[in-house]
Amino acid sequence: MNVLLAGGAGYIGSHTCVELINAGHSVVIADNYSNSCPEAVRRVEEITETKIPLYEADVCDSIAVERIFAENKIDAVIHFAGLKAVGESCEKPVEYYRNNIDSTLTLLEAMKKFGVNNFIFSSSATVYGTPTTVPLVETMPTGSPTNPYGWTKLMMEQILTDTANANPEMSIVILRYFNPIGAHESGRIGEDPNGIPNNLMPYITQVAAGRLKQLGVFGNDYPTHDGTGVRDYIHVVDLAKGHVKAIEYSGEHNGTEIFNLGTGTGYSVLDIVKAFEKVNNLEIPYIIKPRRAGDIAECFADATKAKELLGWVAEKNLEDMCHDSWNWQSHNVNGYK
Ligand code: NAD
Ligand code: UD1
Repeated sequence: MNVLLAGGAGYIGSHTCVELINAGHSVVIADNYSNSCPEAVRRVEEITETKIPLYEADVCDSIAVERIFAENKIDAVIHFAGLKAVGESCEKPVEYYRNNIDSTLTLLEAMKKFGVNNFIFSSSATVYGTPTTVPLVETMPTGSPTNPYGWTKLMMEQILTDTANANPEMSIVILRYFNPIGAHESGRIGEDPNGIPNNLMPYITQVAAGRLKQLGVFGNDYPTHDGTGVRDYIHVVDLAKGHVKAIEYSGEHNGTEIFNLGTGTGYSVLDIVKAFEKVNNLEIPYIIKPRRAGDIAECFADATKAKELLGWVAEKNLEDMCHDSWNWQSHNVNGYK
């Protein structure tokens, strides 16, 4: 298929681009570089030895989006183009609702106009809110997000479900990601957050690289095996391969289908720190800090549905994730800059 990757220059988009090309698909990327740069795409071209049609475009801009559809025969769209910083979404809610929802609506309108029916959406485990039980199954009720970012994901899931209900020819695949970490094994592409990282793994790799002094562990009094928060960390290359399966599934099925993409295993913050230290033979200084507002104790996926319907399972382990995260960061101390 020829797949439009909206937000394809970003962390998950760039890795998905590699896996789609490896699987024999073609890609077109549209990105406004609000949280990425063209260098990431250049490196994907280097890894895949493939020239990628690249548009610097805001996917909320219907004229720009329609031009891309007019100039390329698009079979499917993967929508990564979202703003994703939880804290920032509380400070700039209007920007988050505008960007995340408008981009979705603009893409859907262009798809309708050009007769494109396959849409894959980047959702998040955040839609489950505070879990009452784990592992999380797709049929569990969604929760009440604690921040505007989470609300945009929940609202977009609703918009997409309604759209597929109204258009029997459409295929919508909603992918609820757990916690993507790691990088391509080449070390040429990886996560490159702006400013001080909010998420655990980029914080750890920047401490390891000497850019930050020490890690703050947010709380050690949760009801978990060592008191620190437990999450389902998934290698970004496994996640990217999940998109290839989703694209192929969408070509054969109509309606809306929701899949958790996680490993099914939860690791605590200290499990991650210890694994990172061991695999990379490094020390990560840390201090225990108070809990972070909005955090939950434990969250991990039941990924059975993705296995049964998509034929997808995460294959990489925690050691791979820690090794590849550091391989990327150590060879790119300042990211793509
Ligand atoms: P990212 O910021 O690296 O990638 C998003 C890309 O979209 C960036 O390249 C950015 O420049 C682009 N973009 C944003 N708004 C745009 C617009 N209006 N027009 C064109 N391009 C635009 O983030 P990521 O980690 O790769 O995440 C991709 C998607 O997955 C996002 O929707 C995010 O909310 C979702 N998600 C990410 C995680 C995670 O932990 N990384 C977890 C759950 C869900
Ligand atoms: C966060 C977002 C979530 C988003 C997900 C993926 C919040 C509250 N939630 O989830 O909406 O979908 O990222 O991008 O931001 N930790 C530390 N020290 C740090 C950073 C993190 O101890 O410096 C801990 C956290 O308390 C948590 C774990 O590490 O227990 C993972 O944190 P993080 O990487 O931010 O992901 P989530 O909180 O799961």
